Amino acid sequence: MGVREISVEGKNLEIHELENVCDTLTGRVLTGSWIWDSALILSQWIITTAQSPSQPEFDLTGKTVLELGAGAAGLPGLTAAMLGASRVVLTDIEPLIPGLCRNVEANNLGHVVHVRKLLWGTDESLGEFDVVLMSDVFFDPDQMGALANTLKSACGERTRIWAATEIRPWTGDCLTALADQGFGVVELSGPVSVDLTGPGPEQRCGSFAVFSLVKQSDAGHVPPAFYDIWG
Ligand SMILES: C[S@@+](CC[C@H](N)C(=O)[O-])C[C@H]1O[C@@H](n2cnc3c(N)ncnc32)[C@H](O)[C@@H]1O
Repeated sequence: MGVREISVEGKNLEIHELENVCDTLTGRVLTGSWIWDSALILSQWIITTAQSPSQPEFDLTGKTVLELGAGAAGLPGLTAAMLGASRVVLTDIEPLIPGLCRNVEANNLGHVVHVRKLLWGTDESLGEFDVVLMSDVFFDPDQMGALANTLKSACGERTRIWAATEIRPWTGDCLTALADQGFGVVELSGPVSVDLTGPGPEQRCGSFAVFSLVKQSDAGHVPPAFYDIWG
C-alpha cells in the first residue's frame, strides 16, 4: 500500500492506494483499494498498442474513454488521459470515489479526467464513449448481467471495449455470460510484458489476457474465443 510511481510516456503517474476501506455491509476490505496486476497489464498494453503505427485503431488521441470498475487507482483510464484522450470518466462504487479523485488531482489531470459513482446496471445516463476500459472485473459470473447492461448503455456500434484479466477458473464463465448477453469476445494477440514485482520483495506470477468485446447488433450467443495466452 502507499504511493506507486508508474511510468507512462516518460512521465510518472503517481498512484495512491487505499488502506482499510471496507464494505459497510460485509466489513470486508474493498478489492478496488489497490492496483491489480491486470491494471498494470492493461495500462502497458494500451501504451504499446496506441503507439503502433500499423494499428491506428488503438490510437487514443482525442477519444472519449470510460473505465468501469476502476478501483481507487483508475490506472488504465489515467494512462489513456496521458496518451491524449480528450475526456476520461473513471467509475466505481461510492466508497472508492474519494480515492479516484485523489489520484486524478495528484496527477493534475482534472481538466480531462472525471470521476463518477457507478454501480453496474443502475445508471443508463452515461452517454456513448469511443473506448471502454476494464481491468480485473471478470470475477463473478452472476455480476456479468449488470455489467453487460452498463456496457450496452455506454457503447455504440463503433465503441471499442478492451478488458484485461487474470485467467482464473471462473474467467471463462464470466466471458460466456457476457457472450450470452450479446457481446462478441476476442482475445487480442500476444502476451504483454510488464514488471509485476510489487512494492515489496515478492515476485508475483499468473496468466493474463487482454480481450476485445464487441457489442453485437443482434443479441444472441456468441462463443468466446478464449484461451490462456501463457498456457
Ligand atoms: C478486482 S477489483 C479491480 C480494480 C481495478 N480495476 C484494478 O484492476 O486495479 C474489481 C473492481 O470492480 C468493482 N466492482 C465490482 N462489482 C461492481 C459493481 N457491481 N458495480 C461497479 N463496480 C464494481 C470493485 O469495486 C472493484 O473496484
